[in-house]
Amino acid sequence: MLLFSTSLMETVLSGIRPTGNLHLGNYFGALSNFIQMQHEYNCYFFIADYHSLTTHPTPSNLHGNVRQVLAEYLAAGLDPEKATIYIQSDVPEVIELYLYLNMNAYLGELERSTSFKDKIRQQPDNVNAGLLTYPTLMAADILIHRANKVPVGKDQEQHLELTRTFGNRFNRLYQTDYFPEPQAFNYGKQLIKIPGLNGSGKMGKSEGEGNAIYLADEPEAIRKKVMKAVTDSGPTTPNQEKPAAIQNLFQLMTVVSSADTIRYFEDKYNTCEIRYGDMKKQLAEDMIRFIAPFNEKIKSLKSDSAYLSKVANRGKEKAKESASKTIKDIREIIGIRSI
Ligand code: TRP
Repeated sequence: MLLFSTSLMETVLSGIRPTGNLHLGNYFGALSNFIQMQHEYNCYFFIADYHSLTTHPTPSNLHGNVRQVLAEYLAAGLDPEKATIYIQSDVPEVIELYLYLNMNAYLGELERSTSFKDKIRQQPDNVNAGLLTYPTLMAADILIHRANKVPVGKDQEQHLELTRTFGNRFNRLYQTDYFPEPQAFNYGKQLIKIPGLNGSGKMGKSEGEGNAIYLADEPEAIRKKVMKAVTDSGPTTPNQEKPAAIQNLFQLMTVVSSADTIRYFEDKYNTCEIRYGDMKKQLAEDMIRFIAPFNEKIKSLKSDSAYLSKVANRGKEKAKESASKTIKDIREIIGIRSI
């Protein structure tokens, strides 16, 4: 059996689609976790620009989005001194692993993936091979650094399952234990749920115009969105239970407002004296105060191309070091050698 070195500290890895515009829900749902993990694990966070080619973005959109996402993640607190932050296409070793994994990924299992079925429905005129093999590319992203822990949402669990299938299949085929089994990972604590502004469920990009507050939002945009948030005609009996839309506004206040402010509006609600206009004005101002430092940081990072390049280059170097080592080992295992 060939022997390969493994590092002692566990490796955490996650990919971020370069769609730009992080909102408060992303911040509390995913990013705050990444920020904590970077102090405790060997972390890789990358911007998945190859992945986004499956939907055919224009070159300038793609490039602009990659820069935007990098600036937003740095502004939110990812630290290039702690984590390896890189752009996927800066590490083309991942494509070589993608090719090897594709040789043992079967049409049936790829076609059964829920995300593939969704995409067929969304873009019936562009069912390309990249869409079909999205899970093998994602598996290559994870396995290239032999990651153990992958912080992702529920929607990605099936991809992670396929990653384990491909890694285990490779191990079995070549009688090795080279690839560890990556597991979904989030801290045990209850994640703070961030509701949207339109009275429905969670904050999200696809939940309609005005539902989400972005870290890059300007004060005026925040004011407009908050003032338009869905409410009702107000409570009619004291201590009445709050309908979902009102509960959402209070929940948003718990993230950005002081305890005194929340108590004040709770009391007003419970005595049926609440004026939603006043509550929304207060929420908007507190939200603006919370978002402003992010907004300023994003703007200043975006205008500092030299710094962004430096961060990307540093990440590229570190990621390539680990990726090229994996490729060297894998070539050895598979029997790809020059004569
Ligand atoms: N598929 C993920 C998403 O849509 C992004 C992603 C690509 C990813 N490669 C990854 C996530 C590797 C975790 C690990 O959000």
